[in-house]
Amino acid sequence: MRESDYREARTATRVGRKKSVPRLSEAPTQPVATEQAAPRLGTVIDGRYQLLDLLGRGGFGAVYHARDLATGEHVALKVLLSGEERRRKRRFERSASLLCALRHPGVIAGLAYGSDQDLVFLAMEHLPDSQDLEQVLLRCGGRLPWPDATQYACELLEALDFLHQQQVIHRDVKPKNVLLSQRGVVLIDFDLAKRLGPGLEDSGELDLNGLTEERTHSGLTGTPLYMAPERIEGGAVDAQADLYAAGLVLFVLLTGKLPSDCATAPRTIRELSCARRLRPPMLGADLGYEVPAELDAWLGRALDPRPRQRFTSAAEMYEQLSAVLLVHG
Ligand SMILES: Nc1ncnc2c1ncn2[C@@H]1O[C@H](COP(=O)(O)OP(=O)(O)O)[C@@H](O)[C@H]1O
Ligand SMILES: [Mg+2]
Repeated sequence: MRESDYREARTATRVGRKKSVPRLSEAPTQPVATEQAAPRLGTVIDGRYQLLDLLGRGGFGAVYHARDLATGEHVALKVLLSGEERRRKRRFERSASLLCALRHPGVIAGLAYGSDQDLVFLAMEHLPDSQDLEQVLLRCGGRLPWPDATQYACELLEALDFLHQQQVIHRDVKPKNVLLSQRGVVLIDFDLAKRLGPGLEDSGELDLNGLTEERTHSGLTGTPLYMAPERIEGGAVDAQADLYAAGLVLFVLLTGKLPSDCATAPRTIRELSCARRLRPPMLGADLGYEVPAELDAWLGRALDPRPRQRFTSAAEMYEQLSAVLLVHG
């Protein structure tokens, strides 16, 4: 992404006839935060990471801006708070180790992970002045101009293509887990990421119940809101999980709301899966400005209720979406 695009996106106010904030708080599964004492600012974790500032706080952990006293570098330190059960700690360490082995500009760089007494942590590169895409949306009046939204979606798809080539699925793609930084779009929060065996298909270990149990702390965007219908209904999780979610991210960036949210907001998982069984509405009428017909066609395919009708890879999605930008952007 060009620097000028970045500046424009951060200050854009030209779209948004009416202020339409995504109605993500109507998540069918409400966050259940477990109140744990977060380490205080100034604390040094593992004799090395001095906590400078709190960047984000979930029910099970917190992300700090910290200084690495060994190198003098600034890092982002994610900590799973003490008192958490062993199984969750093991999962955290597994995903931290997986992230530390990945390197791509669209993927947050994991630097180190470890534990300090009860607390497990992951040190990552710190992206200063970054905002997640939900914050970007709010700043822009609830909707982004289609070329910006499409550009961000393309960058997200490049990151997903890389991950899937490494046999890794993220499983929690949503605007809040995508940062817009000086170098463009960067995918964060690999807590649920998983390396798959041949064929990119999950063993099914983590079904919807597992997800809600793992992720009920995920703030405004309850994870099921970004799930394909077959996944809501308990199907095996494969790369399609990320691809469908990436389609939803673009839809939300363009419209300020989820497609299933357009008529009446679903209140339960069952209602959500029924809504996902409907075709997503066309963008044109609702947006108040013209978008290329190919963009509607792309979204229709990305969010098709029938998995076999969707794109088969992030690379294919990227190719077709970037072509729309190239021709009309
Ligand atoms: N590497 C980073 N650089 C800057 N800010 C970050 C970084 N990682 C996370 N954050 C901030 O912390 C918030 C929570 O991070 P995330 O990993 O999504 O935690 P959670 O599991 O609580 O959702 C993000 O929305 C972002 O604002
Ligand atoms: Mg997150």
